[in-house]
Amino acid sequence: MAAFPLEPIETASVDELRALQLTRLRAQLQLAYDRVPHYRRKFDAAGVTPADLTGLADLARFPFTTKADLRETYPFGMFAVPMDQVVRLHASSGTTGKPTVVGYTRGDIATWSQVMARSIRAAGARPGDTVQVSYGYGLFTGGLGAHYGAEQLGLAVIPSGAGQTERQVQLITDLKPAVIMVTPSYILAIADEIERQGLDPRATSLRVGIFGAEPWTAALRAEIEARLNIDALDIYGLSEIIGPGVAQECRETKDGLTVWEDHFYPEIVDPATGASLPDGERGELVLTSLTKEALPMIRYRTRDLTRLLPGTARTMRRMERITGRSDDMLIVRGVNLFPTQIEELVLKEAVLAPHYVIEVSREERMDRMDVTVELDAAAHALSHVDREAAARRLEHAIKAYCGVTGHVRIADVGGVERSAGKARRVIDRRPKD
Ligand code: DLL
Repeated sequence: MAAFPLEPIETASVDELRALQLTRLRAQLQLAYDRVPHYRRKFDAAGVTPADLTGLADLARFPFTTKADLRETYPFGMFAVPMDQVVRLHASSGTTGKPTVVGYTRGDIATWSQVMARSIRAAGARPGDTVQVSYGYGLFTGGLGAHYGAEQLGLAVIPSGAGQTERQVQLITDLKPAVIMVTPSYILAIADEIERQGLDPRATSLRVGIFGAEPWTAALRAEIEARLNIDALDIYGLSEIIGPGVAQECRETKDGLTVWEDHFYPEIVDPATGASLPDGERGELVLTSLTKEALPMIRYRTRDLTRLLPGTARTMRRMERITGRSDDMLIVRGVNLFPTQIEELVLKEAVLAPHYVIEVSREERMDRMDVTVELDAAAHALSHVDREAAARRLEHAIKAYCGVTGHVRIADVGGVERSAGKARRVIDRRPKD
């Protein structure tokens, strides 16, 4: 592979990076304060003005922004520019009520394309490669974010979008992409389809997969890499901040995601109290945009749980793979549980496939957790007795590692609903009281 130079800021000194961040943060706070009345009211209520920022640590004095702020000002109330400067809108679906609408100026699209190009390059793609973008195109930021970044880097893009799994496989077979960008749950469905067509998933043209938009485990990475004979890298982002491309794992280290800190400033806070936590401690990721024009985001509470680690492949800090969202955390009979914990245990059972769904209900005032997991295609002929044995082993592991009882049912191959985008791992049927 030909050497491919990094951007100077990726290997600048920490001092240079911090100085750039401080300059950019000042300007971003000023933009928010001057142009967005909602920010001005919140800053005033908290008794701070942009002039109070003398160092990066002073950011902790500024108020948080949450999804509720975006809902309150729906759809455009937090935009810092008039609509004639906005060239793109995206929206995130949200589980309840109105979606969150985000906007981009031409400059924002350029920034986004740049951080996505940087991410795709960090994952090991090179100009001249072909990339299949199988994230959804549309209001979701995955498809277009990947598309613009890949074009910027000089890749040939197959804008296949999400869904139509048979056609995904045909495109891989015929157009021979080296890179695929898709959710980790959907690449599994694509791998299943490759096998169903009698082809060998290890023998495709794919070399690199860039997977994100939902939590996934190191165990699932190992499974995907072995099954498809590729490097599987983690990409992170969220619409409110820009879309995908906030952080990306580097292929040479595969040790967590480098946060592109020259554009997005990360902090970790205690999810319960909001108190700042030092690097290395686990908590909720809070992000501040440093260069956004249409929608500056100051201290956005992502709800995503992780920790910050020192840089390795780049100067910028890394964030550990996300374990889950604070609002995805299940509390079952008083025990805290993330779907990713179940995923790790499922992957330890060779006869099970990582297609699973967790249902929680209430039975005689007690919580009940049911876990439905699919049989691995290679084990489709497993006897009833062996299936039951695998179910009991998983139940035992869940009890031992998670401290809660889960009733495991093993579904036939194809028995767990597939999603072409973000997988739905949890169905909570408990009455909201
Ligand atoms: O999911 C943007 C994206 C597209 C990221 C494609 C990566 C690839 P939203 O729909 O706004 O944007 O959802 C953002 O998804 O707060 C996390 O909870 C979750 N998420 C995104 N990437 C990861 C990841 C896109 N790598 C929300 N690991 C975020 C775990 C992730 N969770």
